[in-house]
Amino acid sequence: MDIAEVLKLADELLFAHSGQHLDYLQETILKGTLQSQKYAKIASDNHLSEGHVRDRASELWQTLSDVLGEDVNKLNARNILEKIIISKSGSIGYLGNENKVSISSNRMRSPKSSPLSKPTANKPYLDIDNAPEITAFYGRSDELNTLKTWLIQDCSRIITLTGIIGIGKTTLAIKLIEEIPTQFEYIVYRSLRYSPTIDSFLTDLLPAFISPIIPNTLDRQVDVLLKFLRKHCCLIIIDDLQMLFQPGQLAGHYKPEFEGYHLLFKQIAQLSNASSLLLITSEQPEDAIATRYKFTRCLKLTGLGESAKEILRDKELSDEQMWDTLIEKYQSHPLCLEMTATMIEELFAGNVTDFLAYPSLILSNEIGSQLSRVWVRLTESEQEIVKYLALQEKAINLMEVLQVMFDRYNTEIALNAIRSLKRRCFLEAYQNGVGSSLLRLDRTLEAYARSINN
Ligand SMILES: Nc1ncnc2c1ncn2[C@@H]1O[C@H](COP(=O)(O)OP(=O)(O)O)[C@@H](O)[C@H]1O
Ligand SMILES: [Mg+2]
Repeated sequence: MDIAEVLKLADELLFAHSGQHLDYLQETILKGTLQSQKYAKIASDNHLSEGHVRDRASELWQTLSDVLGEDVNKLNARNILEKIIISKSGSIGYLGNENKVSISSNRMRSPKSSPLSKPTANKPYLDIDNAPEITAFYGRSDELNTLKTWLIQDCSRIITLTGIIGIGKTTLAIKLIEEIPTQFEYIVYRSLRYSPTIDSFLTDLLPAFISPIIPNTLDRQVDVLLKFLRKHCCLIIIDDLQMLFQPGQLAGHYKPEFEGYHLLFKQIAQLSNASSLLLITSEQPEDAIATRYKFTRCLKLTGLGESAKEILRDKELSDEQMWDTLIEKYQSHPLCLEMTATMIEELFAGNVTDFLAYPSLILSNEIGSQLSRVWVRLTESEQEIVKYLALQEKAINLMEVLQVMFDRYNTEIALNAIRSLKRRCFLEAYQNGVGSSLLRLDRTLEAYARSINN
């Protein structure tokens, strides 16, 4: 095997591990070892003492052992390094600028098993095994087109996909992967549902892009990731971002231990990249990355509209003439409709008219328990505003809410609470005919708040 290739690999390993390249003596020692020279010969050829060469050699073997997690010494170094080169089958690539190199698996490596992966050279490397499988997909053609335009034509760096729980964010993102596979070299999906630290997130993410080893400090990991994103066309989908936010505070504030994510996203938004990040969250981040930076976008998902009928059709409900009413009642929220349709199937033999005879909005257990988990995340001022709005028979304007709340909360607190409820997608402001701003509460939250008000 070419000695230069082995030296290059050793240099890359060292650099990824410590940020340092092989120095002249390390390179000389390695070269001599590859040519089966004794330390005495390496020393005399370079006018050095044998003791010094031995000391530097043993440091080098120790570092390579740490990097590779196996004992490397003068006798086996060549073997071990050659094996790595063979196993990577020539997939060593430069990362970043010319003097900073790391090992990158390129898209020739075979994709992981996935229903969407096809092991052909012109398909991207897909790492989406953790993404939920979608069984049905209806509607959303406008949203898909919007996302494709932002990703492909506008080269947006960060897209935030937001919407209330169960509205179909994850489902839409998975569908998107199917529709744009050839545009990206890498497509990776990760969920933050178990709130990983930034260190463990990056340790888990980086092997999708580089291998066999990844840097062991956070700074270096971020550095390597950013360089990779600049050089390669990657789409990283990060789901369940809301798990990083502080409960009991206004929406979208990172918990102190997750500030590292915020910094990373900011860096990605600011740097020129070939890559894009799709952040999925039911709480829009307060930092406004989605609106403050160029090349960033935000898409808020609402109901499925007319396409929601397909969900009812799948459940084989009867009384099709009443489906519009049912869909309107649940704001064409796909998960709510699915759960409600199951309830109608079980309790009303699929008869929508019988179910609609109950005027109030009935929440299934699953939706109720999801909402109760969200409810405890709201601040007291948000809860008060929701409870007040839930009791109103008609839409109410912003000024009235501020006046009613004034006894307890000054205008600033009330306004911030209203903005926060909007970021959680629980509240919508819309203009009435005479130009004043009316507030409309999400119906499921309204029903939940009414149930706990009683
Ligand atoms: N476009 C869609 N077509 C059909 N079903 C959908 C669609 N979007 C969502 N659903 C249904 O709603 C459920 C919740 O969607 P999901 O994407 O998990 O919501 P979110 O990520 O916003 O919480 C899905 O499991 C699926 O059953
Ligand atoms: Mg989701």
